[in-house]
Amino acid sequence: MHKYRLATTKLLNTFHSSLPVIFEETGVSRINAKNSNSPILSRRRHYSSFSELEGKRPGIILGIETSCDDTGAAVVTTDRRVLGESLHSQLQIHLNHGGIIPPIARHLHEQNIGRIIREATDKANVSLEDIDAIATTVKPGLALSLLVGVKWGKDMCLKGEKPFIPIHHMEAHALTARMLENINFPYLVLLISGGHCLLAVAKGINDFLLLGRSIDDAPGEAFDKTARRLKLHNMDAGSSLSGGAAIEHYAKQGNPEAFQFPTPMYKYRDCNWSFAGLKFIALRHILREERKHGITRFYEVEGSDLVPSLPDICASFQHAVVMHLCKKIQRGMIYAEMKNLIPENNRILVVSGGVACNDYVKRGISIVCEEYGYKLVCPPKNLCTDNGVMIAWNGVEKWRENIDVVPHTELDTVDIEAKSPFGTDLQDEIRNLNIKCKRIKMSQLFDSSSNPSQSDIIA
Ligand code: KG4
Ligand code: ZN
Repeated sequence: MHKYRLATTKLLNTFHSSLPVIFEETGVSRINAKNSNSPILSRRRHYSSFSELEGKRPGIILGIETSCDDTGAAVVTTDRRVLGESLHSQLQIHLNHGGIIPPIARHLHEQNIGRIIREATDKANVSLEDIDAIATTVKPGLALSLLVGVKWGKDMCLKGEKPFIPIHHMEAHALTARMLENINFPYLVLLISGGHCLLAVAKGINDFLLLGRSIDDAPGEAFDKTARRLKLHNMDAGSSLSGGAAIEHYAKQGNPEAFQFPTPMYKYRDCNWSFAGLKFIALRHILREERKHGITRFYEVEGSDLVPSLPDICASFQHAVVMHLCKKIQRGMIYAEMKNLIPENNRILVVSGGVACNDYVKRGISIVCEEYGYKLVCPPKNLCTDNGVMIAWNGVEKWRENIDVVPHTELDTVDIEAKSPFGTDLQDEIRNLNIKCKRIKMSQLFDSSSNPSQSDIIA
């Protein structure tokens, strides 16, 4: 670390004189360990890398997440302890606006990030001095949102002369499960959120093979827009839930076979998804039902006239999403076996991202896992949706292996990327193999009264 000090003294002086006094605002630099029994107190010495520190004490990484509409921060150790975390969700405000408006998201991140970092470090009982590196989401996400976290992360690195670890948001989702369980590479991972739908083989910390993705909407996006059109945000239970969670809630009272949904992309023997079509069919069902029940102001999502068949629409839509997800996962598993990508003794499917909070989705996927001998691993709900812990953990993984650890003198080399590819692309290869899938009975998803005829996966 010392070798950087001389070179940057001038830069730091200039920088600090022009900075808004953010560290006074966060209080991070002034936090002292309050508990004399804290394991943190023994770690005052400064180490510039994990190899230098190894064995002396656990490394401590601060993670910052602002890629979309959650402001998150967490302090996680190299021995997998979450020392402190804090999260501010913008969900309620975006529900009131009918969707995420980027300048509003940025404003809310700016309003909350100082407090969130301070809360995380306070709970962890650490000061900026105690932290070994700062991991921050730099891609992909809303540019205006990413910029807020990256500015704070970089500013703190400069102030504390700490390394900065740039994080890919989806890679962080993919690795979170490794903090909770001993999961070795390579394993299969499905990431289903409001912005993404990816099936990949996780081969290493920053080494992924992309088997499939959504060619249009992400499943969470389709859930959110369908929920909005159903006006679930105007109902008691739906008023504070994300669109996906609201649909799951109302689907519990509905019949998943009441409304017909076609199988998207049934002609394509690949691992890709399309959720825009399902969203459109849901809209058609809603419009028809509204007309049938004399709801003429059907174009108004603010109205409170609800169709009586609402639970059935939710259940049928949710079921169609699950069936579509399962079919492509099935093909991914067959491909992985053909190419020997996952050893037989490590057949693990990690499912993460906000949509992985959905129990019906998980139940459907578990049926496919059982059929192909995979263990399904899903982080707890608070770690499936966006959070600071997953970013800090990805920082831990990178820091331990010295991957993407950027010295505070080289922060200019790091920038945000609103869009960013994920892994080595195998989509064409899979499509060309024309892999047929056998039928899997999905009838366990239903209660006994349902007709299982629509619940088979057919290639
Ligand atoms: O991972 P996440 O917190 O943020 C993104 O990176 O997108 O995921 C948010 C998405 C939203 O679209 C939300 O509707 C969806 O996850 N979601 C759900 C459930 N809970 C959250 N979708 C289906 N069922 C749920 N229970
Ligand atoms: Zn996410």
